[in-house]
Amino acid sequence: MCGIVGYIGHRNAVSVLIQGLEHLEYRGYDSAGIACLNRSSHAIEVVKEKGKLAALKNLLAGRDLSAHAGLGHTRWATHGEPSRLNAHPHLDNSKRLAIIHNGIIENYAALKDELKAKGFRFYSQTDTEVAVNLIACYYSRSTGLVEAVLKAVKRMEGYFAFALISREEPDRLIAFKRSNPLVIGFGQQENFLASDVSALLPYTNRFLYLEDDEYAVLTARTVEVFDLKTRKPVKRRPVEIQWTIAEAQKGGYSHYMLKEIYEQPAVVEEIIKNQVKPGGRIEFERMSAGYRAKLRKIRRVYAVSCGTAYHAAIVGQYMLEKYARIPVEVAVSSEFRYEDPVLNSEDLVVVISQSGETADTLAALRIAKQKKALTLAIVNVVGSTLAREADFVIYTHAGPEIGVASTKAYVAQLATMISVTIFMARLRRKSPEAELRSLVSEFKKLPAACEKTLELAKSIDRCARKHSHRKNFLYIGRGYNYPTALEGALKLKEISYAHAHGYAAGELKHGPIALIDNEQPVICIAPHSKTYAKMVSNIQEIKARDGIVIAIGTAGDDALDDMADDFFAIPKMSEIFSPILAVIPLQLFAYKVSVLNGRDVDQPRNLAKSVTVE
Ligand code: G6P
Repeated sequence: MCGIVGYIGHRNAVSVLIQGLEHLEYRGYDSAGIACLNRSSHAIEVVKEKGKLAALKNLLAGRDLSAHAGLGHTRWATHGEPSRLNAHPHLDNSKRLAIIHNGIIENYAALKDELKAKGFRFYSQTDTEVAVNLIACYYSRSTGLVEAVLKAVKRMEGYFAFALISREEPDRLIAFKRSNPLVIGFGQQENFLASDVSALLPYTNRFLYLEDDEYAVLTARTVEVFDLKTRKPVKRRPVEIQWTIAEAQKGGYSHYMLKEIYEQPAVVEEIIKNQVKPGGRIEFERMSAGYRAKLRKIRRVYAVSCGTAYHAAIVGQYMLEKYARIPVEVAVSSEFRYEDPVLNSEDLVVVISQSGETADTLAALRIAKQKKALTLAIVNVVGSTLAREADFVIYTHAGPEIGVASTKAYVAQLATMISVTIFMARLRRKSPEAELRSLVSEFKKLPAACEKTLELAKSIDRCARKHSHRKNFLYIGRGYNYPTALEGALKLKEISYAHAHGYAAGELKHGPIALIDNEQPVICIAPHSKTYAKMVSNIQEIKARDGIVIAIGTAGDDALDDMADDFFAIPKMSEIFSPILAVIPLQLFAYKVSVLNGRDVDQPRNLAKSVTVE
């Protein structure tokens, strides 16, 4: 979703803003722009364009803009089509103020009417232009910009984060956050703002996340953060983020997604290093005895998340129910938040999220807290909102994930779920210790098994070439690999735009079998498992109707190999590890089909990496 960058300091702001926006491209956007403050001309220059950053850079190529401060923005359209007019930054009518904004001002229409009645004119369809004029309406030299922002914010309903510059107060940036993420980066005689840390990694690794209803005033030398209600300064120490800029670059791969797929063995290795202690104990950093005691008393788990993380939640349900013998309910966050869930202090609500900023998941977490449930966040981005607000956070240690379609973050969520499962099983004494011990030793072999699975890439390329022209794919699986079917289908549709549908294989006869003919590929995830024989029956049914079977199975399964048109073997491991191994060929397949169709693999149309609006 929208990306925000702000800069004030000794460098030329234009290049900082453009570089920052390049690092935010992955969030998904449809137009981009910058606003620059130049001390000598006392004017705000705005340059913006529809489409990718390249279009903005083309416009900038002919300009000699130098600025000590400025704002940059990538927009993901909510109010009004993607266009130059609707792109941010937006100026107020008097061109004194420029704003960039992420989120939605829900009462913008009423505010717009009010401002129109006062003579304000509007040139775009955005709620953002309403915000900047509302602030301008309260702005005078005597009140100052901060006062004007505070008055305007009182009138604005919804969820938003914004940053503002004024040509009359050229030595400061003002930022405000309510719900949508905003982080301040600290430099030497320069300071930065961004919607996420990746934009600022080339310059700093010291960050301060703004909390809801906090505002900040940045100059080149100072950063002040205040609480909206009390107006008192907020004293919070910056956090250090260890991610390097190299981790957030392509490193020789043609796409981020491919790089991230290949990072998966290392990601699993890192999780094991962090969570599996000598003697096979599972430990999570900074878990207090008090939290552990509460976990022991939990009677039910809700796993709540969106998109790919939702599929990780379903896998988690199967794992926890089998080994920790605790009932688990799984919900997509956007449903959970409105369904009035029955929760109390004996429930554990686990929110799973790569970004830690997904608006629906955040709302779900807040509801869980209101209802006094114990909460746990499984999150990738250190210091993100979910991580800060949950009672306890387990980081997935996947490093920055840039490709919009999640790969390594998913595998990291699944691997973390394995740790959580073993931990909970021990806490509740629900599985024989010998069995858990043997899972832990097998877990340590998982990175090598992921590595081995990646060797399938060449044969998957050949299979993708045979099928890349097709427009419809079915994915089926059972048990742990029912969510793998959902995830495989999601990957393909996200980045190739082919229609792909994941099903629990047992449901085949209840509808999708009607689609089977000699043009219909069905990706069947059938590693050895307690439902293997049932999967084989499903595959026979597909073959009997001339369907095309692409099978993922266990190495050495000659029978499945013979049955299938294409067969991809994953290493033999206990069932609990199979969703991690089985998803790898599906990621590679989706990737290749996307490339062959000339799609934008890393930034597929209409999608955003971090969905910070409902
Ligand atoms: C977006 C992304 C998906 C992601 C989902 C949930 O749709 O494109 O890749 O799975 O949001 O995001 P989260 O950051 O909460 O895992």
